[in-house]
Amino acid sequence: MSGIYGLNMNLKNIEREDFKGKKVFLRVDLDVPIKSGKILDDLRLKAWFPTLEFLLKNGAEVVLAGHLGRPKKQFPISNFQFSKENEKFSLKPIAQWVNNQLELHSDLDEVEVNRFKAFKTKGSVIILENLRFYKEEEEDDEEFSKQLALFADIYVNDAFASSHRAHASIVGITKFLPSFAGIRLLEEVKVLSQILENPKKPMCVILGGAKIETKLPLVEKMHQFADYVLVGGEIAENTKVLLKVAHEKISAEQHTKSALLIADLTSNQKDITQKSAQNFLQIAQKCETIVWNGPMGMVEEEKSKSGTLDLATGLSKILGYKIVGGGDTLSFLKENNLLKHYDFVSIGGGAMLELLAGEELPGLVVLEK
Ligand code: 3PG
Repeated sequence: MSGIYGLNMNLKNIEREDFKGKKVFLRVDLDVPIKSGKILDDLRLKAWFPTLEFLLKNGAEVVLAGHLGRPKKQFPISNFQFSKENEKFSLKPIAQWVNNQLELHSDLDEVEVNRFKAFKTKGSVIILENLRFYKEEEEDDEEFSKQLALFADIYVNDAFASSHRAHASIVGITKFLPSFAGIRLLEEVKVLSQILENPKKPMCVILGGAKIETKLPLVEKMHQFADYVLVGGEIAENTKVLLKVAHEKISAEQHTKSALLIADLTSNQKDITQKSAQNFLQIAQKCETIVWNGPMGMVEEEKSKSGTLDLATGLSKILGYKIVGGGDTLSFLKENNLLKHYDFVSIGGGAMLELLAGEELPGLVVLEK
């Protein structure tokens, strides 16, 4: 038996189950970029759509659920208020996307079922409103999990990108329903575990983005399997000192020789310098495996895209085995027509990194046979 977590997993697969006449709670990744009610990139949604189709084809009724972003003020379900403030986190555009994708040529009804706000299609699917509107979701509250379980006979998780979160719709609900892994989730675990088992060396991990609390502990863990850890984006600036201390400690303790490079930022702190992008590319050039998650700068601003674009363009010409993951990084590459240069495109950001770092993902542990 391998010592690598992902490889030891034996997840319960939906493909052998009978769904005829059953109600299924399908947890999926709905965390996609949306601007003024318009979905900017539906790659993450298309990833789980085959699981929805599979369930419907096999006679199931589906309650689709997930989260969007990090709504700040969350209310208890007993006192839920839909405020103006959380309107931009509403799943309405996504429910509309599902309706269109299923070619249901009719309007959605906004309903309330078992105290949950939801969007009802004219077919066999209802979509629950953003679960993170309720504070109990992130607390993995037992009573809330039970309420979610009341919707269905079977639970299916096809939300790989959220499976590193011990939340009610990922973990708690599995205590109350027979639980299975969806098609995309199984694929992610299979491919990423294979990479972990037999990585072609040298390997570099390029990290960017803004979710510091998720990524900082991972930077430390990355040293255990990567030869180079290259850090850019918001995490580079905010954690320079912490990163250096962690790196020195790990290198001393584990006698590892991995190198940590932290990008220099432009004077407005919104991008990495051209020189840093070139340094990263020189290292990537030497590597057989390259893993990338997180933009190098604030790519939502036209003027702060150059570092990420230089890196992405340079990487597209490099021949090593390339893996990329994370919502913002994927949207950026897709927008610039560069996604095709990657050998594996993971739907997960933090989840992909945690799996590659050999961490146990709470959402996967509960799906094991
Ligand atoms: C992601 O985008 O990585 C997932 O949706 C998880 O989001 P979170 O970091 O807000 O939990």
